[in-house]
Amino acid sequence: MDFHLSSKRPQSSDAGVVVVGIYDDRVLSSAAAEIDEASQGKLKALMDSGDLPSRLGATNLIHGLAGVSSPRVLVVGLGEQRKMDCARFQRALRDSGKVLRGVATSSAHSFLPEIDVPGRDALWRAEQTMLSTDHACYRYKRTYKTAPEGSKLTELHIPAGGLPSNLPARTQALAAGIRLTRELGNLPPNICNPAYLAEEADHMADRHSSVASEVHSRAEMESLGMGALLAVGQGSVNEPKLIVMKYQGAPRDQKPVVLVGKGVTFDSGGLSLKPGPGMEEMKFDMCGAATVFGVMEAVASMALPINLVGIVAAVENMPDGRSYRPSDVVTTMSGLTVEVLNTDAEGRLILCDALTYAKRFEPTTLVDIATLTGACVIALGSHATGLMSRDQELSDELRAAGERIMDRAWPLPLWDDYQSQLESGFADMANLGGKYAGAITAGCFLSRFTEGQRWAHLDIAGSAWDSGRKGNATGRPVGLLVEWLRSQAS
Ligand code: BES
Ligand code: MN
Ligand code: ZN
Repeated sequence: MDFHLSSKRPQSSDAGVVVVGIYDDRVLSSAAAEIDEASQGKLKALMDSGDLPSRLGATNLIHGLAGVSSPRVLVVGLGEQRKMDCARFQRALRDSGKVLRGVATSSAHSFLPEIDVPGRDALWRAEQTMLSTDHACYRYKRTYKTAPEGSKLTELHIPAGGLPSNLPARTQALAAGIRLTRELGNLPPNICNPAYLAEEADHMADRHSSVASEVHSRAEMESLGMGALLAVGQGSVNEPKLIVMKYQGAPRDQKPVVLVGKGVTFDSGGLSLKPGPGMEEMKFDMCGAATVFGVMEAVASMALPINLVGIVAAVENMPDGRSYRPSDVVTTMSGLTVEVLNTDAEGRLILCDALTYAKRFEPTTLVDIATLTGACVIALGSHATGLMSRDQELSDELRAAGERIMDRAWPLPLWDDYQSQLESGFADMANLGGKYAGAITAGCFLSRFTEGQRWAHLDIAGSAWDSGRKGNATGRPVGLLVEWLRSQAS
């Protein structure tokens, strides 16, 4: 979707639909008041007759309002004015998006960014309006039903009112990154396997001259000594790939930020097979990898003045005669040994080798993104990404970035007290921490491979996709990471 700043007022906008908000008690937003005046009091008359509800979430599409240039006016209920806050504003955006995605026109002009939201500025309101509308209009494309139901909307105009002129382009770059992450996440695992992700990295490098890609095969990973990653992949006919994308936006000698994504293209659990119901959702187990692609795409399009390396560990976890087994002991690239107590705790096994590999780039900061544990979903649900770091400053930075862009993360502790849960009688550690604090013990496992690094771990098991039959990948936490990288760049 293309975003534009416009100085047209609502009654004279030439967009196919104009969006305005109304509050309870006949209070009109300024844009709604302008429409009301141009149409000689039509909005107020409709409110008086009860035909235009103002409660939060109500939406009404009015056609052919006399005195208004646009053929459609979408009136969005905002509820009580004094109750307006961040969450309610987002709710109004979501509801307006639901109507906009089905509307029979290609262009919309939303005046919702003019709504006052305590604690948030005009820039935030504009950005949220663009991201939320783009999010609502996204339709999974690649293998969709034979008769596609794509949205017609391709253009969104918002009031210019003093906003930086590069805002539409930069938000478009972020939205495109989020879309890429969603599309990759939604792809079925028979298409989106490790080799497919490797090709996706080559496409990224083809699209952006600032990005170079490199793919390491199984044989190369063997020479690197990635015994844990390879063990996870050995039960699948789809060979694992270690994918490296390098974005250069700063002088070559400037050390990069490194992102590492979990790319389990399907997680059956392996020999520790998952139960049938819900297993289909494990096609989303590569959403950490998809996030790395989305962030790369956004950062390269924005041409941020930083260096960024994206590493994707792409494997499929399958049961087979050649699968790794519970009680196997594997040697990681770091030299540490791991006793596999459950082949379904595979994410940490591929990440530990990818994190060890990441050290060669001497990262200023290292962040891994992974759909790592069901326990994180139990702890935080889908609203917050689990954020684990021993670096308080980094943790604060990431949390603040998420809060700003409303792609939130919440900290869980990585205290040494939890480390003993990983003890093994047969190796340096086990890949299983037992029943309690599963998200944290997974983080503790990774911490053993990131000693001395400025490192954070994002567990996106709850936030990366909406559960259920029609659940889509959400594109999180691309927003959080791009917002954080932007703050690093400035
Ligand atoms: N990919 C899963 C985690 C997951 C489960 C994400 C459900 C989202 C929803 C991961 O590989 C896994 O299976 N984790 C196990 C770990 C356990 C065996 C220690 C889990 O969470 O049950
Ligand atoms: Mn698993
Ligand atoms: Zn998994």
